[in-house]
Amino acid sequence: MLRTISNFHDIILECPFEDVYAPSDDSFLIVDYFKENINEKYFDGLDVKSVKNVLDMGTGTGIIALYLTKMKNQITNFSSNIFASDILKNAIRCAKLNERLNNFYQSITFIHSNLFRSFPDNLRNTFNVIIFNPPYLPSLRVNGNLVIKRGEDKSWDGGEKGFELFLEFCSQAVPFLNVTQSFYIYYVSSSATKFEDTLNSLAHLGFKNKILKKTHIFFEDIVLNRLEKI
Ligand SMILES: C[S@@+](CC[C@H](N)C(=O)[O-])C[C@H]1O[C@@H](n2cnc3c(N)ncnc32)[C@H](O)[C@@H]1O
Repeated sequence: MLRTISNFHDIILECPFEDVYAPSDDSFLIVDYFKENINEKYFDGLDVKSVKNVLDMGTGTGIIALYLTKMKNQITNFSSNIFASDILKNAIRCAKLNERLNNFYQSITFIHSNLFRSFPDNLRNTFNVIIFNPPYLPSLRVNGNLVIKRGEDKSWDGGEKGFELFLEFCSQAVPFLNVTQSFYIYYVSSSATKFEDTLNSLAHLGFKNKILKKTHIFFEDIVLNRLEKI
């Protein structure tokens, strides 16, 4: 089934794969923040010219990478290399399809990978900005047993407590960050998990957390956070 995502007018997005996450409020929270905070001078306070490599981890339809590519085309000083990665082959197919639909030919470097496991060594120490709208809900249990993940579950299943995958992402991200300059990691969390528990683990990895924006959806708050060097 071809799902055309019609509530996002700035770029064309299609999603012909059932297992690929259709952009939702969490995706829009990130994109809206970038709309407000990237300009000719600054990438959210960083010198925009110094931002060389940007990664959209768990790209899904490609919405974040595509939106950043669109901004690059409009902002002269924003000339970063944009990378997009996902564990699902269909997400990479879908994001490439959307790259073509928006006429952004070969603007984005796609990497099919489980977190950073298949990233080439030459990308170590290079990312100034990494964005991850991760799966952030607790795994399902049926009769006390964890349900085995299917493709589409990868969009929301963040592990038993909801943030294990995110913490694994953070520790794998460390060697890929450009620590000689400033860097930012943007991610979404949910009030449906006891996320405060992870803040200590983040501090051990050398990150401090800043809440940037929140929105209330049905039973939870979804929160856009930014990690930076302590
Ligand atoms: C909530 S969706 C976000 C999709 C898209 N970034 C957006 O904002 O609409 C989470 C994405 O992370 C991907 N993902 C889940 N586990 C992953 C892993 N271990 N490595 C890379 N990507 C993963 C999923 O396939 C999915 O595309």
